[in-house]
Amino acid sequence: MAKKLSIMHPKIKKIGFIGLGKLGLPIAETIAKKGFNVLGYDIKETETSLPQANSIKSLVKNSELVFCAVQTPHNPLYEGDKPLPKTRVDFDYSFLIKAVKEVVAANKKVTLVVISTCLPGTYKRDIEPLLTNKINYLYNPFFIAMGTEIKDFLNPEFVLIGGKHPEILKDFYIKIHGSDKTFTTDVTTAEGIKVFYNTFITTKTVLGNMYGEYAHKIGMNVDDIYEALSRATDRIISPKYLRSGMSDGGGCHPRDNIALSFLADKIGLSFNFFDALMTAREKHNEWLASLFIEKIKTAKLPGIILGKSFKPETDLQTGSAAILLANILRKKRVAFEHYEFDLPQQLPVAVYFIATQHGIYRYINFPYGSVIIDPFRYLHEQSGVRIIRIGLNEENCGNKK
Ligand SMILES: NC(=O)c1ccc[n+]([C@@H]2O[C@H](COP(=O)([O-])OP(=O)(O)OC[C@H]3O[C@@H](n4cnc5c(N)ncnc54)[C@H](O)[C@@H]3O)[C@@H](O)[C@H]2O)c1
Repeated sequence: MAKKLSIMHPKIKKIGFIGLGKLGLPIAETIAKKGFNVLGYDIKETETSLPQANSIKSLVKNSELVFCAVQTPHNPLYEGDKPLPKTRVDFDYSFLIKAVKEVVAANKKVTLVVISTCLPGTYKRDIEPLLTNKINYLYNPFFIAMGTEIKDFLNPEFVLIGGKHPEILKDFYIKIHGSDKTFTTDVTTAEGIKVFYNTFITTKTVLGNMYGEYAHKIGMNVDDIYEALSRATDRIISPKYLRSGMSDGGGCHPRDNIALSFLADKIGLSFNFFDALMTAREKHNEWLASLFIEKIKTAKLPGIILGKSFKPETDLQTGSAAILLANILRKKRVAFEHYEFDLPQQLPVAVYFIATQHGIYRYINFPYGSVIIDPFRYLHEQSGVRIIRIGLNEENCGNKK
């Protein structure tokens, strides 16, 4: 096996992978499946068929290229599923700093490739002072969505590498992708590109939802607005993330923008766009909550939210706008029930809010007399049930199949 590998990948013989969590484990296993000799290490016990080292030191001793995907968590208050607090903070880099220190302490020539998300300036402030000339430090953040880690890793739009000597990593990715998709720059710029990418996506979702709210209030058809703008693929780039629905979620977008709003204040940015973006996201959810409350009051029915995750057909709830909506209602002391897939056998007559676009919700026979708020405009008409499709006026609602 080892002989065959050295023929397949003559320059990179051994790869170490520190941090076998939600991102690290599927990626480390994918790299191994591509024929590389991968050795993993996590402080937690990990179920995998990959060989594992018993310390960072022994992993480094046995590797030339060491990836590091330890967590850089944000305080749970800043994940995007709770109303924004007034104060902001940076990510917690203590896990990353500890892992880097241990790599350095192994005292071996190695290329250390950090994947973990950092705000721009983190390397200069917290990491560079720890390094010796034995470490070739590269920053290689992934543009990967939760739930599609392997697909996104194997089919990236581009591979971002920050650092002075990226050659060994470029070579590795050419072997993974069969062509050169790398974009190289310095570490600090790469740190910025990673989080600004997420800002771009949140901007599109905020804009798309704002079109929906506008259409709802003025009497326009948001689906036509979306379809028309989607044709402007030259100037508007791509219609992805622009369709009006619920706000974006996940472990990256909201939290990265909240962290960037912290840094924007710290460095005295002329306008804190990141704060404005996250405030717009939250205000839109407050508007949806107020619409829900209004319907509960006028119909004199109980309120039920369907959906907790931010992505259809998953149970991923990190940073979910469905959870944010529920938290806003709790803050306003509004009573409601909240279900995802665990629906009761007998659904009551109620005001329903569809907070996740799960396919199964289209097949529910809602009780006669119910009111449903559908931000995705995807439910079928049902007799005796009033569907409020966000972004469509009553006339358009009626025509919808
Ligand atoms: N999950 C994703 O899809 C995704 C996408 C893009 C970026 N990221 C970034 O990647 C990083 C990791 O994310 P995650 O979701 O995998 O986090 P995670 O918490 O699921 O995994 C981190 C793992 O690192 C381990 N760890 C911590 N310190 C260690 C040490 N000293 N030695 C060995 N292992 C150690 C933890 O035990 C844990 O298993 C974060 O910075 C995150 O922002 C994640």
